[in-house]
This record gives sequence, C-alpha cells and structure tokens, in this order.
Amino acid sequence: MVNSKIAGIGYYVPEKEVTNDDLAQYMETSDAWIQERTGIKSRRYAEKHKETTTTMGARAAEKAIEDAGIAKEEIDFIIFATLSPDYYFPGCGVLVQRELGISNLEMGALDIRNQCSGFIYGLSVADKFVKSGQYKNVLLIGSEMHSMGIDFSTKGRNVTVIFGDGAGAVVLQPEKDLNKGILTTHLHSDGRDAEELSFISPGSHGGYHDKEGFEDFGFVDPDVPGEIFITEKIAKDGTYPYMNGPAVFKKAVKKFPEVIMTALKTKGYDTKDIDMLIPHQANLRISQFVAKTLGLGPNQVHNNIQKYGNTTAASVPIALAEAIELGKIKDNDLVCLAAFGSGFTWGSALIRW
Ligand code: UT7
Repeated sequence: MVNSKIAGIGYYVPEKEVTNDDLAQYMETSDAWIQERTGIKSRRYAEKHKETTTTMGARAAEKAIEDAGIAKEEIDFIIFATLSPDYYFPGCGVLVQRELGISNLEMGALDIRNQCSGFIYGLSVADKFVKSGQYKNVLLIGSEMHSMGIDFSTKGRNVTVIFGDGAGAVVLQPEKDLNKGILTTHLHSDGRDAEELSFISPGSHGGYHDKEGFEDFGFVDPDVPGEIFITEKIAKDGTYPYMNGPAVFKKAVKKFPEVIMTALKTKGYDTKDIDMLIPHQANLRISQFVAKTLGLGPNQVHNNIQKYGNTTAASVPIALAEAIELGKIKDNDLVCLAAFGSGFTWGSALIRW
C-alpha cells in the first residue's frame, strides 16, 4: 500500500488583466460594489480564438510535469476538470493529451464535471488510482475559460464580475511514507438545488426550464426533434450561466467548515493543526467567513481571488501553486484543500506536504 503525493505543480493565467472599472464600461456596476461584496479587484481573460480551456490547461500541465521532473511520456493517466470545455464533446482530457503532444496513445483520459469542486473530485479519483498501484504518474488539470460564456450586460452582472480565466495542474505520484502525501479526501453532493448555480442550455432538456422562480425558456416546439443546440431563444438572447448568489453564499459558508472539519477529524486533527488552508476562491467574503468560523489566523489561509477572480476548477491548484511559490508551504506542513460549488457539490483533502 502507498499514499499518493503532489510531486509537481504548475499554473497558468492569461496576460490580459481586466479590472472592475473595465467591466463597468459594459454593465451597471462599480469597483466599490465588486470589492465590497467579493474582494475581487481584477481577473484575467484568455485571448479569444487563440487560447482555450485546453491550451491554458496544457500550459499549466507543462509546468507541473517539469516540476515533477518527469517526461510527458511518463504520464499514464489524465484527469481534466472544467465547466467551460472547448467542445460539448469530446472532453478536454483527450484534447490536452493532443495539445501536449503525448505519444502514448493508449493512456486514459477522464473528464470531470464538478464545477468549483472539480479539482478536489479529480484529486480524490487520482489518489485512488495511484494508491491502488494502477498508475504512477497521474496528471490532474483544472482549467476554465469563463470569459467566452458570460453575459456582459447588466442582466448578467452578479455572475460576470466574479469569474476569471486560468488553469492549474498537478502530477500525482506514489508516496511510500504513509504519513505523507494525501491523507484523506471527502466528496459530497446534494442535487436538490442543482439549478441554483447552473448553465442549463444547451442540453437534452431541450431548451426550457419550468422551475418556479426561473425564467421560462419555453421555446421548444415538441414536434421538432433535436432542439438541443439551436433554438430561436438562444440565437436571439444568447445562453448564459444562472446563479442565485445569496442561496449559494449561505450554503457555502455552512458546507466549507463542515467538510474541512470532516477531513481534520478523520485523521485526528483540529483546526490549530492546519498550516495552510487553500479554499476554493469563490468569494473573499466566503473565505473570510470560513476562516472566522474555524478560528483560523491569516497565516493559515491563502487567498488570491483579489487578482484572479473565481476560476472555478482552476482556483484551488492556482492558489496552491502560488502559496508554494511564495514559500507559504514547507515540507511536512499540514495542508487542507476545500471547495464548494454548483451541484451542489463540495469536498476536501488533507495533505501532509
Ligand atoms: O464558486 C461558485 C460558487 N459561487 C459563489 O460562491 C458565489 C456566492 N455568492 C456571492 O458571492 C454573492 O451572492 C454575489 C457576490 C454573487 C452577490 O452579492 P450579494 O451581496 O449576495 O448581492 P445580491 O445578489 O443579494 O444583490 C444585491 C443587489 C441587487 O440589487 P437590488 O435588487 O438590491 O437593487 C443586485 O441586482 O446588488 C445588485 N448587484 C450588483 N450591483 C452592482 C448584483 N450584482 C451586481 C454588480 N454590481 N456586479
């Protein structure tokens, strides 16, 4: 039996910085509102039609592979977490295999659709593959290109001001010391409020949603098959994510502390034992609320949403990589990763570095 460990890590954020004032040119919002409610000062946007979720993921992966000190050919499995894939299908797993130019054409590639908790879900799956001895070098990527799929009108402002583009990646390898590496992971879901944070069209529901309180997208002609992609409504109004911000906020501030405590208790630890918490960068206010609830000091939590916004599946690996870069994580530290998001799904991981 072995543990798995993060043997290499890397991140990529696009060059283009978009400030709150930049967004205020398109919608009714302000730097003061965004900073007060979310803590975000700016975010990065990928270069349209040149970069994609896959290409950003590949840039982060190259750094992680180099950091792990292996050749890309040694990767035996890829896990790709995103909610903003290049294509409806196939997923970004195979696309990044191609983008990286990996010549092993019989490896496996898996796509994860767990939005904000996608990286933690991926980490848990990768951990099991390594622990079981099936794979020795699993590449896990979280990457998002939100800027191509958000509404820049005032109608979409609660969603659009939050999200940013970027990618993070890790390489997982076996760790013989069972007291080190990934100690435990915890994954949870509650699908009852799936649409509270959702991007429902296109989809096999055929283009309408009748849940009370949602806009009725009733534009389906039941006699015409195959209405998933092109509908009059989508062509006219576009198709965008929906978020009930306050509902998500309330659930997040409850589930984050719960799932962090579950991980700590499973291994016999308490909050004082955490050297570094890397929370999914959903909203700085959420991270601060969680830190306060758990009694964590500023040196025990790393946040970078201020400059990158919420990069969904990429936020945990980007923040983790940055914390390492800044020297905030040292050998033998107890590191906790936690995320909550659309689904709702949430999860945590405890790592002895
Ligand atoms: O990572 C995925 C998980 N997502 C999250 O964790 C997000 C969780 N939720 C949030 O972060 C917050 O709910 C938001 C930042 C999205 C919104 O903040 P809020 O304090 O919950 O605002 P609200 O939605 O209750 O809206 C308050 C007011 C509304 O105006 P009225 O109805 O009071 O006149 C909104 O229309 O703020 C308005 N508003 C804005 N005003 C300026 C909403 N978005 C904006 C905006 N600029 N960008």
